[in-house]
Amino acid sequence: MTPETRSPRADRIFVALDTPGVAAARQLAGRLAGSVGGLKLGLEFFVACGPDGIRAVTEDAGLPLFLDLKFHDIPNTVAGAVRSAVPLRPAFLTVHASGGRAMLRAAADAAAEEAERLGVPRPKLLAVTVLTSLGADDLAAVGQAGPVEDQVARLAELTAEAGIDGAVCSPAEVAPLRRRLPPGFTLMVPGIRPAWAAAGDQKRVMTPAEAVAAGADHLVIGRPITAAADPVEAARRIGAELG
Ligand code: C5P
Repeated sequence: MTPETRSPRADRIFVALDTPGVAAARQLAGRLAGSVGGLKLGLEFFVACGPDGIRAVTEDAGLPLFLDLKFHDIPNTVAGAVRSAVPLRPAFLTVHASGGRAMLRAAADAAAEEAERLGVPRPKLLAVTVLTSLGADDLAAVGQAGPVEDQVARLAELTAEAGIDGAVCSPAEVAPLRRRLPPGFTLMVPGIRPAWAAAGDQKRVMTPAEAVAAGADHLVIGRPITAAADPVEAARRIGAELG
């Protein structure tokens, strides 16, 4: 399948290339270029392979990049990290909402200013609210008020007010966040499992079509594609399920 023939709905799919190796990521990206909408590279890959590794994977695939580095530091440092990331041309970049309003504003301003200075598209900033690995007891232990869903909503609203473009959220959070957040706020959603794929360590999953029906804009999908016997066929099947 070529980019011209893939289902437009497949553009919603960002395949998570969770590997520390450039060759493996590059090979998968090349194979999947015609059947997904983008690539997600995160900390595991970035710490191992750095900016050169990112360029090596993205330059040939010609797909939008979701660079999931989850920045969380003082405003000045996060602004600098965002500026350093802009030349990699990410379509999406993540920051932790719990870094606070000033940090979020600094990140949003830095993305806009650096993109304009370099004459490249502005990356959209996405906030991570409460990590899905944290439960009510974990929040209480770090002094955050629960329940978890209230903290997620509170942080998501803060990010929207601070000029952040969207959030990463679990499938169960999509519908409640959609109701509370402004139109156009982007929801990027991992924890997706087609009915025919193993859940693995993901606990609260939705199928791709269910997540989109709930209001997800983009789906982050890793192992159902990358661990399939035929990743291209798996991605194509998910794209077809999306309509
Ligand atoms: O293989 P799988 O589809 O579970 O991969 C999901 C991707 O989304 C992984 O890169 C994982 O780190 C990421 N992710 C997640 N849950 C979150 C945030 C990110 O699964 N809450």
